Amino acid sequence: MSGNPSVEFFDKQFERQVREHDLALNPFELAALPHLNGRVLDLGCGMGNLAVAAARRGCSVLALDGSATAIEHLRSVAAAERLDVEAPQVDLSHYEIGETFDTSVSIGLLMFFDCPSARWSLGDIQAHVREGGTAIVNVLIEGTTYLDMFDADRHCLFERAALADHFAQWEVLRSEFSDFEAPGGRIKSFATVIARKPHAAAAAVT
Ligand SMILES: C[S@@+](CC[C@H](N)C(=O)[O-])C[C@H]1O[C@@H](n2cnc3c(N)ncnc32)[C@H](O)[C@@H]1O
Repeated sequence: MSGNPSVEFFDKQFERQVREHDLALNPFELAALPHLNGRVLDLGCGMGNLAVAAARRGCSVLALDGSATAIEHLRSVAAAERLDVEAPQVDLSHYEIGETFDTSVSIGLLMFFDCPSARWSLGDIQAHVREGGTAIVNVLIEGTTYLDMFDADRHCLFERAALADHFAQWEVLRSEFSDFEAPGGRIKSFATVIARKPHAAAAAVT
């Protein structure tokens, strides 16, 4: 038990997915796949399907999540295939990234933090992408009415334009909104940005 209601919500979902061998990449992970290279960070990796796909393509992956079920599953797949994946189980709400990555992915994580922590973590992700490297970030935004997976006191629906605004100085390769139907006629509304970090000299003149 993590003691975190959001992680426990997903842990139950992951138990079912492991049981049913439901290992398909979700649409956001599919969009991320062509952009992965080199040393890859997957912050909030869930089942690790993207981490496994990256490692199978030759990337060296650090994948982190708070779900014991997800991390155990990812470690067993990585061990069976001898993939270059390190997968610690970590509470990411106050996690500080310790190295620089060619590609940093955070799909569906930051909205589980309070807003100051979510903004701080987004800045930390950006700071730890190498110049010319790529960040892939996806969050739930205002307009989302499906809230079952949230801790009532601690979550953050980003303002619609906020994620793209954070990447204003980057070369944006993809920026989009997508809505998905959720149980009870409710909606999950996402923003996704895939962006390349400028070289310092280029950023200084723009
Ligand atoms: C919507 S899922 C996304 C998982 C994966 N990135 C994907 O695209 O399928 C959110 C993930 O965030 C993790 N998570 C939420 N809050 C967390 C926290 N405080 N620390 C670590 N992981 C957390 C959950 O365990 C879950 O795996």
